[in-house]
Amino acid sequence: MLDTKTIRAEKALQALFGASVEVTCLSAEDKMGRRVTGLNLRQALTESQAKLLVSLLDEFSLLTFAAQNRVDFSVTDLERLANHFGAPIPHPKNYANYMAYQRQEASLMLKSLSEQTATRCGNAFPEVITCLEGADSPAVYLVNNLVDSGWAKKERVSSGLHWHTDIEFERVPLSTSMFYVQTVPRTRDHAEQWVPNQLPEAGFYHPASSPELMARRLDLPLNGETAYADSAAAFADLPRDQQLELLKVQVRRRLKVGDKGWLIPLVYENPRNGMLSLHSPVWASRGKNIAPAQVEGLSSEASREFFDALEQHVLDPKYRYDHVHQEGDVTVWSNFSTLHNAPPAKSLINRPEDARLMYRISCKGSPSYKLPRNDNSRWIHDNITPPYRTPEVTVAAG
Ligand SMILES: [Fe+2]
Repeated sequence: MLDTKTIRAEKALQALFGASVEVTCLSAEDKMGRRVTGLNLRQALTESQAKLLVSLLDEFSLLTFAAQNRVDFSVTDLERLANHFGAPIPHPKNYANYMAYQRQEASLMLKSLSEQTATRCGNAFPEVITCLEGADSPAVYLVNNLVDSGWAKKERVSSGLHWHTDIEFERVPLSTSMFYVQTVPRTRDHAEQWVPNQLPEAGFYHPASSPELMARRLDLPLNGETAYADSAAAFADLPRDQQLELLKVQVRRRLKVGDKGWLIPLVYENPRNGMLSLHSPVWASRGKNIAPAQVEGLSSEASREFFDALEQHVLDPKYRYDHVHQEGDVTVWSNFSTLHNAPPAKSLINRPEDARLMYRISCKGSPSYKLPRNDNSRWIHDNITPPYRTPEVTVAAG
């Protein structure tokens, strides 16, 4: 028996997409995440369909649209879907000279065909695994363990990462990310764990973090799943007086140590449904080259302790959900109301059964129910590394 929220979502989807759509909980009815079957994302969305999908993501934070591989799904379809949630961000790894461009030393160049990740993935097990057409799109980031892999290679396992939201450190943070899953490891169904729990190297996390926090950070799935934590549920459970205090907190973010940076509220309020969430409340989630966030009015050390306490709360097992990827899934998540982490995984493989290949697109800005998007040129200039692409789509009203 489904809960009321899930039944309501299913009825709304059936009304716009057809009676064969079904919705189930990804983990439990009182947790984030729903799985939608019978919905074909190969077809362009009408305005009302796009609005419904955006509102369901607002409500459930994580949505999986199953079995898109049965409808000949393509990278173009993922890019079109992404454009409804926000403007897709070309990924820095797709450029040959992104850092030089950022330092204003060169004009931006995309990687040549032979250097592109899609080409290098295809070189690992030719004949067996080839990327989808369109995988060279600048907007697509290939999550994979195929680059430099091959039959004669020695296996390697990498540790999990920091808990994070995708590119939360930019002035306009990413709102939404999504995966299309082409291949997942087939060996993970074995009774034994798929990979050993590879711990990150010393110094990966701040040495003063408490043992309880470290235990939660390192409690990651070991079979290719993506670990999520629900930062909206975590906020909702806090005592009212603490919520009111947190609502006043401003966080200073900087791209580099020493920058003046800018202030943003710690608590994100979704403008469409009013849901409050802790937006990336993790001090230590930054890459080595990115300055840590700081609570306005607190020292660096006090900020770290403040963020550590919140991170420990958000990573409580009751807010966690480990997502098992299945081939053909499109999984979309909100970066405002979730944190996630990549699991320890085989990073270099010598048999295609261990391959992990997913297409990720992330976007920022407001949703757009109609396409092409209508972002203004100033906003595009300030927020999107070229090329900005939004598809021309005409769909009959549904
Ligand atoms: Fe990520």
